[in-house]
Amino acid sequence: MKILVSGGAGYIGSHTCAELLLSGHEIVVVDNLSNSNESSLERVKEITGKDLIFIKEDITDEMKMEKIFLEHHFDAVIHFAGHKAVGESVSVPLNYYHNNISGSLTLFKLMKKYEIKKLVFSSSATVYGSHNKVPLKEDMPLSASNPYGRTKLFIEEMLRDIYSADPEWSIAILRYFNPVGAHPSGLLGENPKGIPNNLFPYVTQVAAGKRTCLSIFGSDYDTKDGTGIRDYIHVADLAGGHLKALEAVACSNGIEAFNLGTGQGYSVLEIVRMFEKVSGKKIPFQLSERRKGDAAVSYADCSKARILLQWNAEKSLEDMCRDSWNWQMNQTETYLDKELQII
Ligand code: NAD
Ligand code: WQD
Repeated sequence: MKILVSGGAGYIGSHTCAELLLSGHEIVVVDNLSNSNESSLERVKEITGKDLIFIKEDITDEMKMEKIFLEHHFDAVIHFAGHKAVGESVSVPLNYYHNNISGSLTLFKLMKKYEIKKLVFSSSATVYGSHNKVPLKEDMPLSASNPYGRTKLFIEEMLRDIYSADPEWSIAILRYFNPVGAHPSGLLGENPKGIPNNLFPYVTQVAAGKRTCLSIFGSDYDTKDGTGIRDYIHVADLAGGHLKALEAVACSNGIEAFNLGTGQGYSVLEIVRMFEKVSGKKIPFQLSERRKGDAAVSYADCSKARILLQWNAEKSLEDMCRDSWNWQMNQTETYLDKELQII
């Protein structure tokens, strides 16, 4: 199939592009590089030995996007493009509503106009809010506590309305849990700008000596060791989930949401210990206050994806930590964040 991959130069998008190429798909990546670098796509070509088309464009620009739709006849769209930082979304909500919601709206309008009705969309476990019981299931009530989460909720609602109006659409909404890890080659990975907000990039930078100490946000949760529990999923498994979702939307109409996680929760302290094991480095940490808005425990029920998509996460926590560490160690000048400061 010929696939439009929005946001394909980013962390999850680049891993998925590699899988798509290896499975014989043709891909056109549209990315404005607001949170990525074109070199990730060079690495995708290096890993796969295959070519792709890259167009540096903003998906909110309807005229430019229409030109792309006119030039290429797409069979399906995988839509990753969007801003994703929860804290930032609270400070600049309009940027998030514009980029994520207007960008999606533009894309969906053009898909309708050019009769491309097969879509895989990147949603997030954040749409479960913090009031549901674990394990989280796709049919549980949804809510959001920050603008980023609200953009994912609105887009999901938009898609349900699009499908109600035209049941020829075929839509897979993928709710990722906590994507981590890197490509086993060490060539692709996550490269957050500035000080990382998320646990894995922060821990790898502490292990690498770029940060002095990890703050563990909350040690008094009602969990096995008092620290927060999450369902971390290797980005390579996640990329595989997109292939399975694409196969599903290619051969049937409908709209379905799927959890992509492992179904297994690990605590912050378990992550620290596993990183110490794979890196052979001591990870200094301090126990700090809980972070506002954090749930104590979040993990998925993945049975729907297992049954309907025949997809299962296969990589272990050790794989996730080892590949994150390899990536950190293998980064070249291109990827190094020049503004990184030791704190
Ligand atoms: P990322 O920032 O690495 O990738 C997103 C890509 O989209 C970037 O390359 C960025 O340059 C591009 N982009 C952003 N706005 C754009 C626009 N208007 N036009 C064109 N390109 C644009 O993020 P990621 O971690 O790969 O996430 C991909 C998707 O998955 C996002 O929609 C994100 O919300 C969602 N998601 C991510 C996580 C996570 O923890 N990484 C969890 C759940 C859901
Ligand atoms: C994991 C655990 C923290 C950093 C976020 C988004 C979510 C989704 C995935 C996009 C928690 C603890 C963290 C640190 C810590 N993204 N922690 N010290 O918050 O589960 O999910 O990414 O859709 O929407 O909210 O991930 O990696 O930030 O935190 O102790 O320096 O690590 O409290 O328990 P989170 P995370």
